[in-house]
Amino acid sequence: MSNILVLHGPNLNLLGLREPDIYGSKTLDDINLALLDQSNRHQGQLRIMQSNHEGELIDAIHEAVGWADGILINPGAYTHYSLALRDAIAGVSLPCVEVHLSNIHSRESFRQKSVIAPICIGQVSGFGWRSYTLGLLALHDHLSDSGK
Ligand code: DQA
Repeated sequence: MSNILVLHGPNLNLLGLREPDIYGSKTLDDINLALLDQSNRHQGQLRIMQSNHEGELIDAIHEAVGWADGILINPGAYTHYSLALRDAIAGVSLPCVEVHLSNIHSRESFRQKSVIAPICIGQVSGFGWRSYTLGLLALHDHLSDSGK
């Protein structure tokens, strides 16, 4: 049984409307329901938050200490430049999986670099909404290997 903080970064509240050819037609609520369903099957707990503000995401990471066993995050565009978000994740020493709907490695050069990925246990990118469920599965397996 594991407690996982799920964070969605900027503009992900627009999923469904936002560039559906790139990000798909599912809304953020659809994705959250899929994650909750998967988590229930693993008898886990999720806290889910979306924010368009870097500081709010950082506060949520700090507040997860003592409750969360791991973090699943789609940092949105912060992926590519937010050293503050990276430092927050590294600072709480919780295992983290980074996910992206699109394959960031096949897109514009500015999207191909993640400043977050090096401090994560891994990254899932390019499987649409399933990047989230695959990432959650990987995090659950990682936690269960380490006895959580
Ligand atoms: C994204 C990729 C980012 O480059 C972009 O800024 C997003 C979404 C993805 O899920 O594919 O907001 O993180």
